[in-house]
Amino acid sequence: MERPLFSRLRAFAAATGRSGGRLFFASGRVNLLGAHIDYHGGCVLPVAIDRGIALLARPRADRRLTVASADFPGRYDFALDALPPAGDAGFAAYPAGVAQLLREAGRELPGCDLTIAGDLPPGAGMSSSAALLVATAMALSTLSGAPLEPLEAARLAFRAETGYVGVRCGIMDPFASALGRAGHALWLDCKEERFDYVPLPADRLAFVMLDSMTRRDLKSGAFNQRVAESKAALATLQRHLPAITCLRDVTVEQLDALRGELEPQPFQRARHVVTEVARVRRARELLLRGELLEFGQLMWLSHLSSRHLYEVSTPRLDALHEIALGHPGCYGARLTGAGFGGCALAVVHPRVVESFCAHVVAAFEQRFGQRPEIHPLAFGQAPGEVIER
Ligand code: GLA
Repeated sequence: MERPLFSRLRAFAAATGRSGGRLFFASGRVNLLGAHIDYHGGCVLPVAIDRGIALLARPRADRRLTVASADFPGRYDFALDALPPAGDAGFAAYPAGVAQLLREAGRELPGCDLTIAGDLPPGAGMSSSAALLVATAMALSTLSGAPLEPLEAARLAFRAETGYVGVRCGIMDPFASALGRAGHALWLDCKEERFDYVPLPADRLAFVMLDSMTRRDLKSGAFNQRVAESKAALATLQRHLPAITCLRDVTVEQLDALRGELEPQPFQRARHVVTEVARVRRARELLLRGELLEFGQLMWLSHLSSRHLYEVSTPRLDALHEIALGHPGCYGARLTGAGFGGCALAVVHPRVVESFCAHVVAAFEQRFGQRPEIHPLAFGQAPGEVIER
């Protein structure tokens, strides 16, 4: 049986006169640990998941790029040789940005109808934007002769999001989408742009996505504001520590010693970053040793730090965090992605997934009068064309 996401995409394409073309998929991600530290050069531990963005890419004879999505209103029609600024392109800014960068890299792009559908809740911290960018990069590069290597797709997606769309995000999401590997977390050093894989004990751990049922729009500015606040803290610290190039280079001790030099808010932002950088290093060791209880405690601390120091949580995410930890089979939980709404991630024992989900649904519904979406997650797959057998 075809995957429901692909059937929904084909049904939408058929209903809008856009059937046919080649099918591509890229995964979303959850981040086990490392909140808001990728753009400070820290190491992060994301996992690519089985939910993501699918798209049909149908070549056309003229030099136009059209974009339509089953999940967003509007249909966009651009001249490939004169792509619009991102602000005029709605959600189609993401594919348009990829097309622009591929052209700048010397690729001969044919005209193309891109039809998109996702099974990641958009704006929920599961990296739907990066999955869309990576899927588009794979689709357009394939149509233009040769698919990009996943690492190239990740780099191009990052440049499209920061340079074209204008979000000041780090490299984590496109790298996780492009390079994630089943059974592993990606260990990504965002300063050195180096990565390897941390094997996860799949028989002892399962992932559950907990949706707070509120959304944020990364383009809305709250994210960029946090980036600006924490970079301001970096600038002050650099006056005292000239060798540092990013907050990842600062130890907790160094920061605490310079506390008097920073205003309270920049200090808080920086303290989240430097303690989170230290937690992720420790987490890697714990995961390699299979010490999941201790790892879960780091997730718990990470959430508290995101909540009180970086201030990117919401009451509903905090409630999900508390509710999740009230179940005896839960190792740890934290907001995943940018925060400001969206999803939390819980790591639980595989034997308790069902009772854990029932527990969270009941407690959340009682508190907020709304049924949350709770989904067990599986590992994702490498991005690229989906060849159907
Ligand atoms: C968003 C950004 C990422 C990262 C996370 C927070 O998902 O796109 O680069 O900063 O937020 O960890």
